[in-house]
Amino acid sequence: MSNKEQTFIMVKPDGVQRGLIGEIIARFEKRGLKLVGLKFVHATPEHFEKHYHEHREKSFFSGLIAYMASGPVVGMVWEGLDAVKTGRAMLGITNPLASPPGTIRGDYTLSVRLSTCHASDAVDSAQKEIALWFPEGVAQYSNSMESWIFE
Ligand code: PPS
Repeated sequence: MSNKEQTFIMVKPDGVQRGLIGEIIARFEKRGLKLVGLKFVHATPEHFEKHYHEHREKSFFSGLIAYMASGPVVGMVWEGLDAVKTGRAMLGITNPLASPPGTIRGDYTLSVRLSTCHASDAVDSAQKEIALWFPEGVAQYSNSMESWIFE
């Protein structure tokens, strides 16, 4: 498979508290990506400072860190064709009001901070995020998406 990639997707505290974990996982499964890592974790501010390191100078940084560490999140690794770009397309953009219906933010949120879900923005940041959240590594297995009966 060309452009087989892994991306890091995270259900944020508002997504967990609103009961959207299953909805978000279902979207990625139905799209054809393969789940290779999954954890439910209430991470520390220090962990999120590493995750969002590139945004440390932004005005919203301290509010973002406090929010992300305020409750549990679901961190996942999804694998498949162009997984990083696909994940971003499924997420929508930072401004939820400008995120089209059909995207996660366009369907589930009106808030820039309570933005429901995170998706890696590039292959190199996906690799860094996966290493941060899954230092033990992710699963390797075959699923039906990789062995269609008509191929
Ligand atoms: S930037 O300035 O374009 O680089 O920022 P952007 O990539 O759009 O956003 C980076 C992450 O910060 C979140 N964000 C915010 N959180 C809280 N409050 C405000 N005002 C805010 N603005 C941006 C945004 O959702 C991104 O988080 P992730 O988890 O990467 O989607």
